[in-house]
Amino acid sequence: MKTILVFAFLLVFAGAVLAQEKPIVIETKNTALVYKQGFGNKLVQVYYGEKLKNAADYEMMNSRNEAYKPAGLDNLNEPAIRMVHNDGNPSLALNFVSSEVIVENENVKTTMIVLKDDQYPVEVKLFFKTYFNEDIIENWTEIKHNEGKPVMLTNFASSMLSFKAREYWLTQFHGDWDKEMIMEESQLTSGIKIIDSKLGTRANKFQAPLFFLAMNNQATETTGDVIAANLAWTGNFQFVFEIDELNSLRLVAGMNPFASEYYLKPGEVFKTPEFIFTFSSNGKGQASRNIHQWAQKYRVLNGEGNRLTLLNNWEATYFDFNEDRLVELFDGGKKLGVDLFLLDDGWFGNKYPRSNDRAGLGDWQETKEKLPHGIGYLVEQAEAKGIKFGIWIEPEMVNPKSELYEQHPDWILKLPNRPENLSRNQLVLDMANPEVQKFVYDMVDQMMTKHPQIGFIKWDCNREMTNAYSAYLGEKQSHVYIEYVRGFYKVMEDLRTKYPELPIMLCSGGGGRTDYGAMKYFTEFWASDNTDPLNRIYIQWAYSYFFPANTICNHITSMGKQSLKFKTDVAMMGKMGYDIRVEEFTPEELAFSQQALKDYARLKEVIWFGDMYRLVSPYEESRAALMYVSEPKDKAVLFCYNINAYREKITNPVKLQGLDPDKKYEVKEINIQQRGDGRRPPFGGNSTRVYSGDYLMKAGLEIRVGRGDLSSNVYEISEVQ
Ligand code: GLA
Repeated sequence: MKTILVFAFLLVFAGAVLAQEKPIVIETKNTALVYKQGFGNKLVQVYYGEKLKNAADYEMMNSRNEAYKPAGLDNLNEPAIRMVHNDGNPSLALNFVSSEVIVENENVKTTMIVLKDDQYPVEVKLFFKTYFNEDIIENWTEIKHNEGKPVMLTNFASSMLSFKAREYWLTQFHGDWDKEMIMEESQLTSGIKIIDSKLGTRANKFQAPLFFLAMNNQATETTGDVIAANLAWTGNFQFVFEIDELNSLRLVAGMNPFASEYYLKPGEVFKTPEFIFTFSSNGKGQASRNIHQWAQKYRVLNGEGNRLTLLNNWEATYFDFNEDRLVELFDGGKKLGVDLFLLDDGWFGNKYPRSNDRAGLGDWQETKEKLPHGIGYLVEQAEAKGIKFGIWIEPEMVNPKSELYEQHPDWILKLPNRPENLSRNQLVLDMANPEVQKFVYDMVDQMMTKHPQIGFIKWDCNREMTNAYSAYLGEKQSHVYIEYVRGFYKVMEDLRTKYPELPIMLCSGGGGRTDYGAMKYFTEFWASDNTDPLNRIYIQWAYSYFFPANTICNHITSMGKQSLKFKTDVAMMGKMGYDIRVEEFTPEELAFSQQALKDYARLKEVIWFGDMYRLVSPYEESRAALMYVSEPKDKAVLFCYNINAYREKITNPVKLQGLDPDKKYEVKEINIQQRGDGRRPPFGGNSTRVYSGDYLMKAGLEIRVGRGDLSSNVYEISEVQ
C-alpha cells in the first residue's frame, strides 16, 4: 500500500516537474493555448492562436503576461482576482504549483493548473476544458482558502487572456426590449473598454454576454483571425478589454464584480462560470460553426434532438381569451399542422385575476372565470384534437396585486425604507432564498404532476432587478446578484433531474436572457417580442453568430405588413412557429402554410443540424442570404431576403458556400405559392435547374427579386447523380 502511495506521489511530482520545464499546451484540432512558468514561479500565457505543426516550437515562446493576474502586488492593470485576507492584507501572489490533464474521452479533456500563494493558504485552480473537434475551450476558475475566517473577494474572473496584435476589432451585440442583438464593430483603443450588465435578472437586455474579437484586421465571414466568446452566466457579467502601453490586449471575463464583494468561507469552493471561446483563422463563419456544433453536442438541453412546431396565442389574443376561445384556437393549430398549442400569459389568478399585466403574477391557479374546467380540460381537448399542449409561466416574479405578495412579503427583492420600484407592474422574487427556490420548483412540479401530458413550457422573466435587497441574505447583500443566479440554476437543475426531456423555451421579455449558462436547462429561446419580419432578419442574423438554428424560436405573426410568404421565409431559417389568428387566413394562405410546414418537416434536419454559412449580410447590402448544408454535403437550404429593392437594384449573384464542388445539385425554389409579386417561376420557367457545386460556389446563383421592397426566396438544394 505504502509503495503504491509513494509511486503515485512520484508520478504526480514528476508531472509537476515536467510541467515546470515544458510549456503547458492546451490543444484543439486547429488551435493552441499555451502557458509557461515565467519569472519568479509565475504562470504566463505565451500563446493563443492557430496550432503550430511542431509542439517543440512552443518552447521558444516567451511573455510577461501573467495568466491570471492578481491585484495588490506589482500589477498595474485590471486584475483577474482580488482578495482581502483575514489580516486586511489586500494582495495575492499566485505561484505555479502543478498541472494535470483529466481525460473524459477522446474529444473532451480538461487541463487543470494549480496556483498557490506562498504566504497565505489560498489555492486557485484554472480549468481549461477542450472540445477537440469543435475547437472550443471552456475556461473557469475555482478559488479556495483555509484562513480562520471568510476572506473578501472583490474580483473573480473566469478567464484572463492576452493578445498581441497591431489592431483589435471588437464586435459587440447590444439593444433593448424589442431591439435585441444590434451588431456593432469598433476598433479598441488604448485603455479600457467594458461591456457588462448590472441588470441582475433579464441581464442581457442591453448588452449580450458574447462578442467577437478580431486581431490585426477586421474579420469577414471567411477571413481573419478572430475569437468568438461568451460567458455561461445568467446574471451580471463583465468583459474588460484593456490595451496597455505596449499595445497588448488583456481580456478579463467573468461575473460582474459590481456591488458583489463575496465573503468566502474557509474550505468553500468559489467556482466561476465558464467563459467559452473559440479561435478561427478563417473568419467569423467558422467560429460560429464551431460554437453551433459544441452547443448542440454538449451544452443545449437535447441540442441534437427534435423540436416541436407550435401555435402560440400571445399576439392572437393577448389576455383576452376563455376556455371556448382556446379550444377553437386548437383547431387552428391542428388545421395548420403544428405539433403543439402554447397557451401564453393570462390563465391564472383568482383573487386578482390576470386580465392584464397589473395583477395575478405569482398566483399559479387557473382563473375560474376564464378556465372553469382548468388546465386538465384544455390538455384533454388538445389531445382529443391531436395536438400537444404547452403553457407559459413566469415563476420568478410577482405583482403587488397578488396573494403571493400578501402572504410572503419577505420573499421579494425590495429595499427597506424605499418605495418599491415596479417594472411592468411587477417585482422580482428572491431566488437566493431556499424557500423561494422551493416555491418555484413546487409550482412547476405540481403542475407537471397533475398534468403530465403538458408537452412544453415557456419560462419567462420580464424584468431586471432594481432596488435589490434580499431579506434572506441579511448582512451579505453583496451576494445577491450571484446567489440569485445560483438559486435559479439550483431550481433548474432539480427540475431537470425530474423532467429531463420536457422542452422548455427560455424567454425574458423577448430575448433578455440568452446565454449558455441557462441553455443547459432549456431547449430553445424566444429571440424577441419584435416579430416584424424585416427587423427579425437582423435579430435572427445576429443570434446566428452564437446560437444554432434549432434554439432560435421564430414565429409568424400579424406584426409587419409583409406578405405571409416573406414572414414564413424569415421564420423558417430557425425554429419555426406561429402566433397568428389562423381562422383569419384565406384558403390560399392556409394551404400555403400547410405546405410550408410540410416542407419544413422535410428540411428541418438540414436547417437545424447543417453547417451554417452566412453569405450576404443585411448590415452590408440591402439583402441577406444564408444557407445550411448537411454534413455529407448532399442537401442544403438557401434563404435569401431582399430588404430594399427600391433603393438598390441588386443583380450580382449570391455565391454559395460549403457545397462539394464535384457534386451536382438540383436547385428548387420552395414556398412559391404565395409569392404574388408577379414574378415568373425561376429558372426560365422550369421549376428546378441542375448546377455543379463548383458553379454555385464560384459563379453563384442569380436571385430574382420581386417588385416590392421586400421579397424573399427559399431554395432546396439536393444532390443528384
Ligand atoms: C413577454 C414575452 C412575450 C409574452 C409576454 C406575456 O413579453 O416575451 O412573448 O409571453 O411576456 O406577458
